[in-house]
Amino acid sequence: MEERKGRRILMFPVPFPGHFNPMIQLAGIFHHIGFSVTILHTSYNAPDPSRHPHFTFRTIPHNNEGESEEEDPLSKSQTSTMDLVSLIRVLKQKYAQPFRKSLAEEVGGGETVCCLVSDAIWGRRAEDAAKEVGVRRVVLRTGGAASFCAFAAFPLLRDKGYFSIQQNTRSDDPVIELPPLKVKDLPVIETNDPEELYRIINDMVEGTKSSSGVIWNTFEDLERPQLMELSSNYQAPFFPIGPFHKHCDDLPSKTKNKEDYEITYWLDKQDPKSVIYASFGSLADIEEKEFLEIAWGLRNSEQPFLWVVRMGSVRGTEWLEALPTGFMEGIGHKGKIVKWVNQLEVLAHPAVGAFWTHCGWNSTLESICEGVPMICTPCFTDQRVNARYIVDVWRVGMVLERSKMDKREIEKVVRRVMMIEKEDGIRERCLDFKEKANICLSKDGSSSKYLDNLISHVLSFDS
Ligand code: UDX
Repeated sequence: MEERKGRRILMFPVPFPGHFNPMIQLAGIFHHIGFSVTILHTSYNAPDPSRHPHFTFRTIPHNNEGESEEEDPLSKSQTSTMDLVSLIRVLKQKYAQPFRKSLAEEVGGGETVCCLVSDAIWGRRAEDAAKEVGVRRVVLRTGGAASFCAFAAFPLLRDKGYFSIQQNTRSDDPVIELPPLKVKDLPVIETNDPEELYRIINDMVEGTKSSSGVIWNTFEDLERPQLMELSSNYQAPFFPIGPFHKHCDDLPSKTKNKEDYEITYWLDKQDPKSVIYASFGSLADIEEKEFLEIAWGLRNSEQPFLWVVRMGSVRGTEWLEALPTGFMEGIGHKGKIVKWVNQLEVLAHPAVGAFWTHCGWNSTLESICEGVPMICTPCFTDQRVNARYIVDVWRVGMVLERSKMDKREIEKVVRRVMMIEKEDGIRERCLDFKEKANICLSKDGSSSKYLDNLISHVLSFDS
């Protein structure tokens, strides 16, 4: 479609794959409709613009004038020892001013800007910057609505003392205010600075509330009650237009490289629904001991497996050095360990029978869209809420708690999930959600209608 002059959208993603990917998919949707898109991105984890030729990229530098490499809090050596909460705090601090400046230059630079789409994590600073230059701000929430309900309830949960009981023996107690969550499902993360975590969450929730609209990468048939509950407390209109990656065939994340072809070749040789695909997303890391339990559990299950082990994700090692000599030879062609895959391709492959996941929202949604049952091992934040919904609400997966993750338990759960035809209807429910995800994107489907509403909404801003 022709790009419409004067229909320009600025986007400000958070620089982690779980946030950047959905933002770039959303950029693809806007582009497809005829908008031009400029991505304002941080110099930290900067993307490769050549992979996304449809968009204009502008790098936002961070305030490090006069800082040496050792002083720069966003240098590799500094960030490698930071917990996620501290990293987000530093990103928010360091990019606040430079973002303001870049935004002002973009808005003042000729072509009319329709609106800014900022990740909810950037919070109210993005709001202030947009106000200053007279541009409306729409928020993209990359996570699900159910987990957002839990984030929005943080002040209440805190008053009631839920966070202080999390580590103790009452972790299986229900959170009465947020059924079906249990205390252990609350979306927290281990950090040296819990106060900062509350600040980040509250800023995200308040910044979403005060926006001119909220775009969700979810769909009504999946999270209708949670979306309704939230929207009843918000003035900003909601646009649940997900799943983003299914909107059009030419979205940028679908490009394949040589390794992807090798993986597809390996998958092609496996029986239908025989492969367990294991991946814990782009951020979580594991202890060497856990890594070895997973390796032996997968091997002993005797199921074909495809396992993503990111470089540096096993603490204290570079990649696979911890595996005993001869381990891979013992597996032969039955198992494959890789550094990264094109997950959308893998989940859509007929050989994949189940997904062992950390339940990041993108992984959850991608698996649901392909009708693939899940083994849920959440690590932190929203993953815990997502896992509870996968297992107890949508009933498309089973749980394997991280604290109970030894090789015998892994072997047992992997075998069980692969025998799933005999489980009570999991496979049918998975296929039902897959169909619902397709229907919501059809001409009269809910996500298509919300997308039409979203377009009218943003076009009304400059009228
Ligand atoms: C983070 C948080 O951990 C998660 O809880 C939150 O919902 C989003 O931000 P991440 O851990 O990376 O995300 O998980 P997830 O949301 O699942 O996103 C990972 C993305 O990377 C997915 O889109 C997945 O398709 C992609 N991916 C992952 C690959 O393409 N290849 C891989 O090998 C692994």
